[in-house]
Amino acid sequence: MMFSYQSLPILLSVLLILSYIGYQRFFSPLARIPGPFLASLTSWWLVSQTRTQRYHRISIDLHKKYGPIVRTSPNQVSVSTAQLVRQVYPISTTAWPKSDWYRVWRGPRKLDLFAGQDQKMHKQQRKFVARAYSTETLKDLEPYVDNCLQMLMQQLDKRVGHRVDMAKWVHLFSFDVVGEITWSANFGYVAAGKDDGIFASIQTLGRSGSWLGHVPYVYYVHELLKPLIGNWLGVGERHGTLRDFAIRETARRRQNPGGKRDLVNRFFESHEKQPQDFTYTDVISMGTAQVAAGSDTTAASMNAIIYYVLKNQSVKSKLVAEIDEAWMKGELSNPVRQDEAAKLHYLQAVINEGLRINPAFGMDLPRVVPAEGATIEDYYLPAGTVVGMNAWAVQRDETVYGHDTESFRPERWLEGDTSDMFRYFLAFGAGSRTCLGRNIAFQEISKLITTLFLNYDMTLADPDRDWTETC
Ligand code: HEM
Repeated sequence: MMFSYQSLPILLSVLLILSYIGYQRFFSPLARIPGPFLASLTSWWLVSQTRTQRYHRISIDLHKKYGPIVRTSPNQVSVSTAQLVRQVYPISTTAWPKSDWYRVWRGPRKLDLFAGQDQKMHKQQRKFVARAYSTETLKDLEPYVDNCLQMLMQQLDKRVGHRVDMAKWVHLFSFDVVGEITWSANFGYVAAGKDDGIFASIQTLGRSGSWLGHVPYVYYVHELLKPLIGNWLGVGERHGTLRDFAIRETARRRQNPGGKRDLVNRFFESHEKQPQDFTYTDVISMGTAQVAAGSDTTAASMNAIIYYVLKNQSVKSKLVAEIDEAWMKGELSNPVRQDEAAKLHYLQAVINEGLRINPAFGMDLPRVVPAEGATIEDYYLPAGTVVGMNAWAVQRDETVYGHDTESFRPERWLEGDTSDMFRYFLAFGAGSRTCLGRNIAFQEISKLITTLFLNYDMTLADPDRDWTETC
């Protein structure tokens, strides 16, 4: 056999690659955990799966194929056992911190409730804004949602008897609601029948952040080179376009105080009490969070609920019968109030089922195993391992949600003991990082769904066509 010194680098590279593969497959602490071969070698496998925009379905399929724990990256696993939600997402300051996946979402900001990784800091920051999102604030926000519902109905009334793109109108509505409840500003998207480009920014941000988070170094290098090469990453929208939007609206609102009871009013109250700790910049960050976290998620959930109800004739009949009966008894206003909707048990079951079968957030919610390590599904995971759970997979765990989890069956929320179904529900996240806007989202969803089915007899224009799911 001929050997030349020129081939030495190639030989060494091959040896290095083989040693790396050998380590990941046989010696890594995660080596025994099942999963796709490429996933055990590189995070780019997860990047490629995320970029399909079908990761929510891929996650379900992975768990069907490999079981309740799957290795999705050299240092990351995905877990689908509903009973483990409380272990991975506990309610305490010692909760497992968020992984570096969130870093790219936070960018250079100090305050970012969604993406902040420091648990202690997060707890302090959450205190400044918790009151704004409490149930007591909901009453103040309800008239804002009513304004938007009235405007939506004016538009739909003009289109009765015609084919209507409900997904579009619901999306425009949800964004107008964000403007109303945050800054007492109606963006007029429903009135105009279109947005001004912000939807595209939010979508680009979501798609880009989802995959980039798995390889955060790409983001850091890009940030370093940005002055030379310009912005090439959609996640920059969160730090650019969306933030500029929040800066503009917050400044406008500050010049117009006028005793309004919106969310920014509550943020300003916290700022005035502790201006050093909760700065004007932090108020803007909260405004950005409203735009980024509060519109697409709620719109996607409302659209899923409408779609599934219309797709299931018996569900639609029961829901409409419940709403009509309450209306005949004089128990509903128009637009419907939240306290009225809360008394409609079948409606509440429909909403829970919609959020179960089609949670708006399709990614795993990754956390880092703390110093003492953790045992999950009989595998020991050392400190630093990233563990994520995906609401799409968790909320299909048959031991908790029943054998027919692919069916849209609201009745499951009305039968027997449903406490575990609520306890392990992951659509809004869980533990100390659970969604702050959950009450607001429920208010908006309950009011919109009840008011729509009270006022309109909706049917699918193409009943035999399934909709396109993306995340
Ligand atoms: C149906 C609608 C919604 C869904 C499905 C949803 C889902 C979620 C999820 C899954 C998380 C946790 C993410 C994680 O653990 O990494 C979260 C956090 C958050 N959401 Fe929502 N969300 C919705 C509506 C809203 C609304 C309307 C607002 C604002 C008004 C909002 C504001 C937030 C904020 C500020 C956080 C960060 C909380 C923290 O870490 O302290 N969300 N949301």
